[in-house]
Amino acid sequence: MTVLPPARTGPEGGMVRAMFASIAPRYDFLNHFLSLSVDRYWRRRVVRLLRGHHPSSDDRCLDVCAGTGDLALDIHRRLHIRTTGTDFCHPMLVRFLAKLRPSDAIVIVESDAECLPFAEESFRFVTIAFGLRNIEQRQSALEEMLRVVQPGGVLVVLEFSKPVIPVVGSLFDLYFRHVLPKLGAWISGARGPYAYLPASVKQFPDQSSLAEELQSTGWFDVGYQNLTGGIAALHWGRKPTVSSSPRGEVGGSDRHRNRVETATSVGQGSRGLGL
Ligand SMILES: C[S@@+](CC[C@H](N)C(=O)[O-])C[C@H]1O[C@@H](n2cnc3c(N)ncnc32)[C@H](O)[C@@H]1O
Repeated sequence: MTVLPPARTGPEGGMVRAMFASIAPRYDFLNHFLSLSVDRYWRRRVVRLLRGHHPSSDDRCLDVCAGTGDLALDIHRRLHIRTTGTDFCHPMLVRFLAKLRPSDAIVIVESDAECLPFAEESFRFVTIAFGLRNIEQRQSALEEMLRVVQPGGVLVVLEFSKPVIPVVGSLFDLYFRHVLPKLGAWISGARGPYAYLPASVKQFPDQSSLAEELQSTGWFDVGYQNLTGGIAALHWGRKPTVSSSPRGEVGGSDRHRNRVETATSVGQGSRGLGL
């Protein structure tokens, strides 16, 4: 595992990181328990969407806000592409590292999504599951993902969204606001994170607003699909090729180049495979 010095994490980011650190040991169990394992099905939908782009073994995928690694592992093992998982919460990544098999061509990098330590156009795919909602400066993260993906490359965002079927919305609201925070607090022993979850979902843009955000960041061919009545949604977009770019340019800034050059690698997992 490669650990980079914290870059731009602001106070809210620091709070989010501490919150995930506090629940890391119970995160996987709680995820599956509180969602009745529907979260596994949602992540598989990301894999299915990527499969539709006919990935080859030469392709690389970056999973941002990878946490304990379930999506990155699914992508790597089901699509057989080299995968990098990145997150800024060390205890979450330690759980991810523990899941790796010696044959897994997966790199784990501890870094902030707002300042990714990867060169321009390093990946054909970039994914983020239940992470975008937690990022302090969402726009910066979307720009960073655009920078590191190749022209024509694909972004897939999996996130909680706004239920589109009224009865689903009411039941979800009841469960999310009244049952989940109590169950989560009881099992994890930490009250904050499971009160934060419904609050952060409420503040997050709905399906069409997020699609507009992706588009205004520079992604094109943007679309989305509701999952489980809109409780979650899959969003996607592609990076313009030079000819299709609305701005007529691709690539990143000197700030990012410097960041890559000055990054200090303080640990390399024996089971990782370097980029
Ligand atoms: C709800 S978890 C999702 C983890 C995983 N993707 C999954 O599907 O289970 C959100 C993750 O986002 C990470 N995160 C939040 N803000 C971040 C940031 N600015 N940079 C890197 N990781 C961030 C947290 O540390 C946490 O591991």
